[in-house]
Amino acid sequence: MKTSGNTILITGGGTGIGLSMARDFMKEGNEVLVCGRRESRLFEAQQRLPNLKVKVCDITDEEERESLADWAIASGVNILVNNAGMQRMVNFTRGLPELAEGDNEIRSNLEAPVYLSARLVPHLMRRKPAAIVNVSSGLGFIPLAIMPVYCATKAALHSFSVSLRHQLSATGVMVFEVIPPMVDTDLDRGARTRRGQEDRGISPDEVSKALLQGMAEDRVEIPVGAAANLVAGSRTNFDQVFQGMNSRR
Ligand SMILES: NC(=O)c1ccc[n+]([C@@H]2O[C@H](COP(=O)([O-])OP(=O)(O)OC[C@H]3O[C@@H](n4cnc5c(N)ncnc54)[C@H](OP(=O)(O)O)[C@@H]3O)[C@@H](O)[C@H]2O)c1
Repeated sequence: MKTSGNTILITGGGTGIGLSMARDFMKEGNEVLVCGRRESRLFEAQQRLPNLKVKVCDITDEEERESLADWAIASGVNILVNNAGMQRMVNFTRGLPELAEGDNEIRSNLEAPVYLSARLVPHLMRRKPAAIVNVSSGLGFIPLAIMPVYCATKAALHSFSVSLRHQLSATGVMVFEVIPPMVDTDLDRGARTRRGQEDRGISPDEVSKALLQGMAEDRVEIPVGAAANLVAGSRTNFDQVFQGMNSRR
């Protein structure tokens, strides 16, 4: 698909992978709208990219999500990038209190992209070209058991992407799924440092470059770097790759 001349809404586009995408899409001559909960991060992003359009929005809040959709439609959006997400380690041996004490990954990583897609598809069907891009994860293909809910939301987002692509195949709305490996961002809120993990992952710029190239080549599933091994492993050798990833934890 054409990667210039579009109007693109990137959820969570004020930081990390979303911000790299915003910058690269803008360089290619697209108009870019981003949202996030922290006004300070959106303001910083706008300092770096002065033409960036920003809106404070918690995508897990139904009313705020509705107002985000209205804003995007009024701006002429033709590409929705479901990028916003969060990641938590959750130990189920500690029961419900540990699960309930933090942000709800199911609502931000799965429910919000599903509802935003439903809200925008009828509008996108009237735009040409049009697309939805879902940012899943290699961990949606082979889970890392210390973050079980995160991995489950990403597996579900993969499944949703496959079904949505099939449903929309006759409409002209393309459905892309970009599948990053570990990326050096603030996603884990310092958890990698706390567990002494030295590998910080690839740069968010690499994910953004892979996405733009994949879209230009109409490759609907875009695994990036080492995520390709997890995608392939999940299809040919699930148990062995799962044991390899989880045996030392
Ligand atoms: N980093 C990795 O290793 C990695 C690997 C595979 C996939 N991914 C995926 O890539 C996507 C982007 O993550 P990232 O690595 O770039 O981390 P990040 O910098 O923390 O980006 C996440 C963005 O989502 C926003 N966000 C989170 N919850 C939100 C909510 N309820 N409403 C609105 N915005 C919300 C955050 O802003 P606020 O906090 O201000 O709301 C932030 O801008 C995520 O879906 C993540 O799962 C990341």
